[in-house]
Amino acid sequence: MPVVQLRRPASSFVSRPLDDDAPEAAPFLKWAGGKTSLLPELLKHVPARLRGYHEPFVGGGALFFAVRRMARRAVLADSNAELIHCYRQVRDDVSAVLDALARHVYGKTHFQEVRALDPLRLPPAERAARFVYLNKTCFNGLWRVNRAGRFNVPIGRYKNPQFNNPAVLFSASHALRGVELLHASFEEALQRARPGDFVYLDPPYDPVSATASFASYTPGGFSWDDQKRLAHACIALNRRGVRFLLSNSATDRIRELYRGFAQRMVRAPRFINSRGSGRGRVDELLVFNA
Ligand SMILES: C[S@@+](CC[C@H](N)C(=O)[O-])C[C@H]1O[C@@H](n2cnc3c(N)ncnc32)[C@H](O)[C@@H]1O
Repeated sequence: MPVVQLRRPASSFVSRPLDDDAPEAAPFLKWAGGKTSLLPELLKHVPARLRGYHEPFVGGGALFFAVRRMARRAVLADSNAELIHCYRQVRDDVSAVLDALARHVYGKTHFQEVRALDPLRLPPAERAARFVYLNKTCFNGLWRVNRAGRFNVPIGRYKNPQFNNPAVLFSASHALRGVELLHASFEEALQRARPGDFVYLDPPYDPVSATASFASYTPGGFSWDDQKRLAHACIALNRRGVRFLLSNSATDRIRELYRGFAQRMVRAPRFINSRGSGRGRVDELLVFNA
């Protein structure tokens, strides 16, 4: 597999920012597999010239919020429709989302009532607020749905969960201005990437053991066939001159799948799995062509 040799990343950013007046922003959701703790390692691979930035598995968007001031264009996508709806509302009408959040309280009865609501029957801001509320108050911030697509995670044990945080949501809204948000599969989202753009791919990880699987972000999960299709998509990106960085678990079969591309092991706190156990420091794999 030929690898296009692109310039090594530098730590300084020189491209014109999307919005250089934006306040510091951070993820406003708690996301399984969130990459905040790996940021120092990921940032080493973000190119100095960041024209188009793409995250087709955006989740909580830890890397996006860290680099968004340096990107001219950004495209964020995810196959989770509720997540993308929430991002759009936070971008377009954050005050209405905050008003709706102010009507929520932390308590088991209220949580169960909110969880039982059909999001598709709610006004847009309330639908987004429901998503933030459930994310911040459910067990471990998991997003898990049953076969019918209904959210089914129980309430978590918190003292005072911060689901209504205007400062965080306003700065996230600012960071999302001008950003394209797609409810799409990674293949569709990657069609937007142009030569010279940078893509960060953070798919559901290949399970390190049969019980460690946490691939139920959306109905259907993320199968080994999906992992193979993703590796083919990376080969296509490389051929088109698009820079990419991918993170995954450092299983033998993932290392084999990406042979031919540069690989680096990093130590990171393990993401949560479906039982909330399985925490610890484990090797993760970074794959990149830039
Ligand atoms: C490991 S999480 C990403 C975490 C993110 N980097 C962060 O910092 O929070 C993986 C994401 O991929 C999404 N996903 C799963 N299958 C997908 C698919 N086929 N296409 C696009 N997104 C998918 C999930 O909904 C989930 O949000």
